[in-house]
Amino acid sequence: MKAFVLSGYGGADKAALQDVARPEPGPGEVLVRVAAAGLNPVDFKTREGMLKVVQRYPLPTVMGNELAGTVEACGAGAGRFAVGQRVFARVGKERMGAFAEYAVVAEEHLAAIPEELDFVQAAAVPLAGLTALQALRDELGVGPGFRVLITGGAGGVGTFAIQIAKALGAHVVTTASPRGRELVESLGADEVVDYTRYKFEDVIEPVDGAFDLIGGETLSRAFGIVKRGGRVVSVAGMPEPRTARLDLGRGFGLAALFWVASFTFRMQARKAGVDYRYLFMHPSGAELAELAAMASEGKLRPVIDSTFPFDRIGEAMAVLEAGHAKGKIVVTMEGR
Ligand SMILES: NC(=O)c1ccc[n+]([C@@H]2O[C@H](COP(=O)([O-])OP(=O)(O)OC[C@H]3O[C@@H](n4cnc5c(N)ncnc54)[C@H](OP(=O)(O)O)[C@@H]3O)[C@@H](O)[C@H]2O)c1
Repeated sequence: MKAFVLSGYGGADKAALQDVARPEPGPGEVLVRVAAAGLNPVDFKTREGMLKVVQRYPLPTVMGNELAGTVEACGAGAGRFAVGQRVFARVGKERMGAFAEYAVVAEEHLAAIPEELDFVQAAAVPLAGLTALQALRDELGVGPGFRVLITGGAGGVGTFAIQIAKALGAHVVTTASPRGRELVESLGADEVVDYTRYKFEDVIEPVDGAFDLIGGETLSRAFGIVKRGGRVVSVAGMPEPRTARLDLGRGFGLAALFWVASFTFRMQARKAGVDYRYLFMHPSGAELAELAAMASEGKLRPVIDSTFPFDRIGEAMAVLEAGHAKGKIVVTMEGR
């Protein structure tokens, strides 16, 4: 089968389409005939070797972290999905494999695609949608009346985050350039700050919590706009000690490394009287089913920036790396 294979860490030339053997599902696993796969910044960060401290892959390995397709075969003990059923998933981090004609996925990571979504829309949901759900609901405790700042509202995660925060009853303040304003307003954002002209702390009232998708100085400034006692959750800043323990199940060594890496952000947070949490999202079929239900109820609409045929995945990756996607970039398998 055709697959997008990582053969070494570095630039775009380290990943290419190759013919590889079709994988076989083991116990508790499902073989999915992939129809579409979503791209995420984690794909090029993995290729660049930025995540080696967290996750090492035996190379060569098939890339890709989320997919939509049909069940082709089930391994021993995997009985929740029928052959031919439409499914989607954020695949297990220890293996990846979504950028291929067939992929093996742990059954617990899969959910049924709701009728309302086609394969392209479904492939856009898992990684970004779960990240937004876990950050907003579980880490920030967003609920009715909560004022939340979402930095970077127009990208893959941001377009889901705005809709999920609105569905949870929040007042949403977000940042976007003029290129993204109309989109984030159409998704329900209550206040939009043009980050190319204004610093949000100069033009908005304090918020109860912030979800940061940008990192760097944007994250540093977010601490100052959150009310004392509130929390900033970032997926783009620096991992902190709890990331090692809670998200990665790792021990003192990695926690100590993250303690050092996040020192500046943690000190800025402490000075502002807020809590800093860096989240690594986790795959979950059960939570993906919740997002599917939201899509069925018309509360969640995947935003597609662009689609590319699978044989142009290198081009799709370059567009993502340029950093201006409005919503998600998805590759499609011919004829599926
Ligand atoms: N830790 C985790 O588990 C996890 C999970 C998911 C994602 N992430 C990380 O979260 C980040 C966002 O991911 P994504 O998929 O949303 O990325 P993305 O789709 O590539 O984001 C692109 C968008 O960001 C906007 N943008 C760029 N700079 C901005 C700024 N300074 N302020 C506001 N908006 C800005 C761009 O708008 P303009 O072009 O109009 O400026 C563009 O629409 C990435 O770093 C990713 O690796 C982490």
